[in-house]
Order: sequence, then C-alpha cells, then structure tokens
Amino acid sequence: MTRKLLVTSALPYANGPIHIGHLVEYLQTDIWVRFQKAVGNECRYFCADDTHGTPIMIRAKAEEITPEALIDRVHSEHYGDFTGFGIEFDNYYTTHSEENRKFSEMIYTRASEAGVITKKKIQQAYDEQEKMWLPDRYIQGTCPRCKAADQYGDSCDSCGAHYQTTELIDPVSTVSGNPPILRESTHYFFQLSQYEDALKELFKAGYIQDSVQNKLDEWFDVGLKDWDISRDGPYFGFKIPDTEDKYFYVWLDAPIGYMASIKNYCDKNGLDFEDLWNGDEYEIYHFIGKDIMYFHALFWPAVLMSANLRMPNKLFVHGFLTVNGQKMSKSKGTFIKASTYLKHLDPQYLRYYYASKLTSGVGDIDLSIEDFINRVNSDLVGKLANLASRSGPMLTKKLDGMLGTLDAEGRKLVDALIAAKDEIADCYENLNYAAAIRKISALADVCNKYVEEHQPWTTIKTDSEGTRTTLTAILNAVKVLTIYLKPVLPEFAVKIEQFLAVDPLAFADVDTVLENHKINKFVRLIERIEKEKVEAMVEESKEQTAPQQATQITLNEPLAAECEFDDFMKVDMRVAKIANASAVEGADKLLQLELDIGGVTKNVFAGISKAYKPEDLAGRLVLCVANLKPRKMRFGISEPPDKRRFCNEKNNRRNRAAG
Ligand code: MSP
Ligand code: ZN
Repeated sequence: MTRKLLVTSALPYANGPIHIGHLVEYLQTDIWVRFQKAVGNECRYFCADDTHGTPIMIRAKAEEITPEALIDRVHSEHYGDFTGFGIEFDNYYTTHSEENRKFSEMIYTRASEAGVITKKKIQQAYDEQEKMWLPDRYIQGTCPRCKAADQYGDSCDSCGAHYQTTELIDPVSTVSGNPPILRESTHYFFQLSQYEDALKELFKAGYIQDSVQNKLDEWFDVGLKDWDISRDGPYFGFKIPDTEDKYFYVWLDAPIGYMASIKNYCDKNGLDFEDLWNGDEYEIYHFIGKDIMYFHALFWPAVLMSANLRMPNKLFVHGFLTVNGQKMSKSKGTFIKASTYLKHLDPQYLRYYYASKLTSGVGDIDLSIEDFINRVNSDLVGKLANLASRSGPMLTKKLDGMLGTLDAEGRKLVDALIAAKDEIADCYENLNYAAAIRKISALADVCNKYVEEHQPWTTIKTDSEGTRTTLTAILNAVKVLTIYLKPVLPEFAVKIEQFLAVDPLAFADVDTVLENHKINKFVRLIERIEKEKVEAMVEESKEQTAPQQATQITLNEPLAAECEFDDFMKVDMRVAKIANASAVEGADKLLQLELDIGGVTKNVFAGISKAYKPEDLAGRLVLCVANLKPRKMRFGISEPPDKRRFCNEKNNRRNRAAG
C-alpha cells in the first residue's frame, strides 16, 4: 500500500550560514525522503528559514539593512547550500510569510479561547539607550558564583552555574554597553501543564523514540512551567492580535512555519491543505536535533492540541556533530560552512560518510577527518565505484556495449544481492543508515571477489563471450547496489543509470535483470578524496587569530630604556583588532585607532602615520596596553577600555534558541 508522508527538517535560523553540523540533519532527512520515494511512497519534504527574533533584528541593524533584506539574502544562500548537497525539498519557504502569520494568529486565538493563555507582569532587562528589551544572552557581567568576568545573562561558561539575570554582578547590555535597567512588562504565557496527561499519552502512542524517553521523564519530574510566548517591541516577528506592541516569541511561530510551508506548497500545486495536514491519509514526521527537543516534544504538540489540530506521527531526534571528537571549532578550522566545503570537495563524500555513521540513536556523531578520507577512498571509491569502472569500459570498448545473459553462477551472485533487499529497506526505514551502508559494503566485497575470481581482464584475450557473461553478472550487481545506495548517492545513481541506459531506478527494479541490453559509454563516477583538498578546506575555515606578519621593526624606532620587572607586571597587554583607523586632521604623526579588545572598544591615538596608511590597518591585530591611563591629547582623549561591547563571535555562538 502506498503511504502518504509529509516530512520536515527543523527550520534553520536566518542569522547564520549552513554548516556541516546542520547538514547531519538535512542529509539524514533527505536520505529518508529519497528512500520513501524510491519504494513508491508519496512523500514530500518541507522546510523553511526561521526568520524572526532579536538576533536577526540586531544583525540587520549592524549590516545597515532591513531584516527583510537580510532574510531574503540568507534564504537564497541557505537554499543554494542545500541544493549543492543534493538536498531536495518539495518546498523551501520562510516563516516571514502571510500563511505563517495567519496560522499563528489562528492558533493563538484558538489557544486563548481554550483558556490556556494567561497574562503575567514580569521584570525584564531593558536597554534604555537602544530602547529595546534584552534577551539573556545580550547581557554580560560577572558570575555571581565564581566571579568570572564577561559571563552571559543566564549561565556561566566558566563554572557552569545557572542563575537569574538579576543576580549577575555589574551587568551590561552587549548592544549598547550600558547597564540594563529592570522594567516591568505584561507577557503572555502558554500553560503547558494543562497538557501534561495528554502529552504522556502521546508519548505512549509512539510520538518519540525510546531513547529520549528518559529525558522527557526528567522534564516531567521537574514540572512543566508556563511558557512565555510574547516579546515586547521592537521585535522582528508577528504582532499578537489585539495588542499595541507585543509580538509572538520566535519559537511560537517557528514550528507553525512547517504548516505554512505546506500550505504554500498546496496553493501552488492545487492541493487542499486541510487534507494534508488535518486529514488521516497523511503521516507527518519531524526531524530535529536533540537541542530543540523541548520545543518539539512538549510545546509543539501542546500548542497543536490547544488549537484542536492533529498530532504529527513521530519526532526523529538526532545527536550533534563533533569533528575529530570535539565540538566544531572556528580556531581549529572545523567549523566548516557548507559553502566552504563545496568549494573544495564533492558533496557525495559527506553524504556517504554521514550515512555510514547515522543510526536511530541520539548519540553524537563524529566526523574524524582521517576516517572520512579513508572510508570514502576505500569503500565508496575503492569498492563501489571501482566495481563499475573495472567492468563497464571493458564491455563498451571490447564487446560493443552489449550485455549477454546470466549463467548459473552470475544468477547466484545477483540473487544474493537481491536477497538483501528487505533488510536494507528496513535499515533505511528505521534510520539505521550505518547498518545499510555496512550491508551494502559487504555485498560489494562479495562482488569484488567474484571479479577477482573471474579475471575478465585476462579472459577477454581468449574468450569474449565468456567474458561478456561475467561482465553481465557484474553490471547487474552494480545495478542492484546502485539502487540500494541511491537515497544516499543520487548523483552517482544518475550516472550509473545513464551508463546502463535505464530509466531512473526505483527499489522495485532490484528484481529485474538486464540481459541482451545495450549500454552507453562509461563516465567517471567519483574521484578519490585528496588529502590536500581537505586540508585546504580546513585552512580556509580557520578564523584568523594571529597577525599576518610581525610589524614591530617597520618603524625603525630605537628601543626604549630598560624597565623593572615590577613595572612590567603592571602592564596589562592585550591583542586588539583595529576596527577602524583614520587620519587626524592637523596632526602629522597621529592616526586615530578604534581598537576592539575582545569586544571592548578603545579609542587610541598612535604616532604611526608615517609608517602606515589608515586604509591598510582595519582588521589587523596589534598589541595594546589595555590599562594605560587615559590621556587628554590635543586632538581628543586616548581612552581606557569602556564597557561597551559589540555583538562578537562569542555572542553569535549563543545566538541560538532564545531571542
Ligand atoms: N530555528 C531553530 C529550529 C526551529 S524548528 C521550528 C533552530 N535552528 S538551527 O539553525 O540552530 O538548527 C537547525 C537544525 O540543525 C536543528 O535541528 C539543530 O539541532 C541542527 N543542528 C545545528 N547544529 C548542529 C550540529 N552541530 N550537529 C547536528 N545538528 C545540528 O534550531
Ligand atoms: Zn561562574
């Protein structure tokens, strides 16, 4: 029976590029969708950009463009990255759409009518200069527990403490650099606890994997708290109906974006959204990472319940990507953007490698660079592609490209491959891609052994018809293996289809054999990974942390008089980045420098204009005495660091869920 499936991946934030961590999810989903299509199910894959929230607003402001312009640009970047990796959506939409606004308002109105929305006055941090409310991560200060400086509003990186923003010592807004004030505001809350029993029922009915049940039990034990679904303006999002200046929190409208993407698709394709989303004909599956489980396991079904909408069938949760056993790191060059990868390497390598690692569990998956190179070269290129490239050209060059018929032995080989069909299908269906790849690789070993035993390159010299029979078996084996691999390697499969002169292969084609059939000229399938290319990719991903060249001698100044150790100890020397450099009118030696010392800005006058042009300095790293006493100079004050902080990389890293 043909199943009808609607599948989603989480909607990536529009405030950053797609990276190889994201790709774990989009490739996992794409492989599943391609598998479903290959077995003849009617399956559609939906996604969209997640476009609302404070980080988008702040980023747009920093770039001096509108949030709309920012999300448009990022939309095409994201879509291009996905396409580059062969990730094929049936619709890739945006949460900033009329469909999403309508659904969000409708769901909110229904939830209000159901009596699950309450209003409460809360105290929240506010930046008076920027006239904006501050999410926790836009506040930094000293940890109340361990006294580490520069910690975020909700937790300390240094000692791991979690606390209220109000407990932070000397808090400052990272947007303006001023201390935030506490202001009262009315917020809207969704009473999650009303759905505790219904959620437990849902989980019993199989909404989640067994492996995440423990985590959910923990959350139930702690107790389900009311969820704050509103934010005060200015905020980039949808206004809450009947309010002056309140907006839906980005996480309220984000999952509703799944519905909006499907609705948009239905309208474009003459389908009835109600049939798809609320009928009982369609199954709905969400793929997500473990970090956003709370939103999808608890909030999302509860919100749907409050609005009387149907439940999705299942949530598939995956773990996080590590590279060489560690978190992706910008300084190590392992925080690799999708676009950077594509400049250097064939996307099929990553599709194959991730598939070979993915299981249905929520454990993290590791991309070990060395293992990546070895596995792709030995399995994908050495075993699978090689099987075709050893036999294909021989048939086309020496035997007119005509397949013969299978003899008993060839039939046995092909039958052994066909016999694995259900097992491999089960592996895909249950997200055990690693097991599927292991099985396929083991079958390729059997085929390669067959080739070794029959030595077609020797027999071709004396027995052309016998060789044709051998090659017929091998190429039929290639066909079956290609079908098994096709969800993972669609591009590879297309090349084989062209070469074998067959229509696009589906799972059912495993059972048919190609005999007395003319094939086309062989085209190269895939190249070995070159280590140098991987290294170049990592190199390009490294964030600059060191100066390009030493600069000290350029000025040719004589050394100053010796100084005492105690004097030296007073000097707080920091590496600073020149954010801006400009000439000082009326001064012949001075340049005015705006230095960024790890997010703190300092205005400095330096007597270096004879040696450097201001336009060459921006972005360069210099050493700076950070605690030098401010000095009034003729042209202005040469400053100590103030508390002003910018939205630096450390912040961006945190610019994830909230906002
Ligand atoms: N915008 C939210 C999702 C809203 S869904 C209604 C979000 N966006 S995200 O861009 O941060 O992440 C998108 C998906 O990619 C999430 O499922 C997340 O778990 C996954 N991943 C992001 N980084 C990842 C890794 N390093 N490793 C594996 N998956 C990761 O969350
Ligand atoms: Zn601490």
